[in-house]
Order: sequence, then structure tokens, then C-alpha cells
Amino acid sequence: MLTMQEIKNHYYFTDTDAELLKELFPLAQSKSDAMVEDFYTYLLKIPETAVFLREPKDLARLKKTHAEWFLSLFCGRYDNEYMLTLQSIGQAHVRIKVSAHYVNAAMNVVRRFLIEMLQANFPDISVRRKYRIAVEKILDINLDIMSTSYQEEELRRVFVSH
Ligand code: HEM
Repeated sequence: MLTMQEIKNHYYFTDTDAELLKELFPLAQSKSDAMVEDFYTYLLKIPETAVFLREPKDLARLKKTHAEWFLSLFCGRYDNEYMLTLQSIGQAHVRIKVSAHYVNAAMNVVRRFLIEMLQANFPDISVRRKYRIAVEKILDINLDIMSTSYQEEELRRVFVSH
């Protein structure tokens, strides 16, 4: 199993990237309600994902959970504990049987939201580029760790069926 340091190395994720993401925290915080609205508008439009979001009480709790995850992208500390949290987030979706396809597609919604947020707030292209590269790396790392849970579940099923 890879350590978080190895994963970061494979994505050329440096301490500078961590600092850049941390700098974005206040901006991301001010936009987190809007991000969650986009995220849920998207998930509620697709019948296969909307079924997971039926209960209004659950919806408020889940929105909070997804907003907290969004903000954790900008926490500035990406260690083994961070990796374990992402593994357990991946496992939560495997457990309730959200297809990996929708997790990937939802990540694309977050990516687009963040790229537009940077576009609107950093007119200087070289500054914006630094932030965009750091954001892309942390989103890809998140997706990588979460999808490993799906691959592990696939392997488990193959072993159990033989
Ligand atoms: C739970 C993040 C995509 C539905 C969670 C949790 C997090 C999270 C942090 C809490 C996990 C825990 O309690 O340990 C994400 C991220 C996604 C994503 C980062 C992709 C970018 C989706 C999609 C759906 C979904 C596509 C489909 C509707 C849920 C539900 C739960 C949940 C229903 C509650 C699971 C439970 O009750 O155990 N998600 N999520 N998520 N997510 Fe997502």
C-alpha cells in the first residue's frame, strides 16, 4: 500500500502546492455554499444519484458533510491521516453502492466550479495558473484514493466468487 508521501510524489505535489491551497481556504470558504448547491443540483438531476438524497433531513446533514470535504481540500496538511479519511470516504460510497462513475462525474463538477472560482478571482494568468495546478493535483489525488476503495471492492468480489 502506498503512503501519502509516495502518492504526493507521483503527482509532483509539493509543500508549495500545500501552501497555495491553504491560501485559497478563505476564498473557498466563502464559496462553499455555492459549491454545495451546484453539487446537489447536479446529483438531484440524475435519477441514479437522486435516489441517495431522498430524505430532506438527510439532505441537510449530507450537504454539510460534502461542504466539509470541499473545505478539507484547502486544509494545507495532506498526511497519512488525510489519506485514511479519503479511504474511508471512498468506502462509504462503495458501501451504499454509489457507482464509481458518479463519484468521478461529481468530481468533475467540483473541478469546474473551482476553475471558474479561480478565473473570477485571479485576473493575473501566472498567479491563477499556480493555484489551478495545485487545485488539479489535490482533486486528482482525492479521486485516486477514493477510487482505490472501488478497486479493492472489485478484487474482494473476485476472490469471494472463486
Ligand atoms: C457521504 C464526499 C460523491 C452520496 C460522503 C462523505 C463524504 C463524501 C466526505 C461522508 C463519508 C463518511 O461519513 O465517512 C464525496 C465526494 C464525492 C462524493 C468527495 C465526489 C466528488 C457522491 C455522489 C453521491 C454521494 C456522486 C451520490 C448521490 C453520498 C451519500 C453519503 C455520502 C448518500 C452518506 C453515506 C452514508 O450514509 O454512509 N460523501 N461524495 N456522494 N455521499 Fe458523497
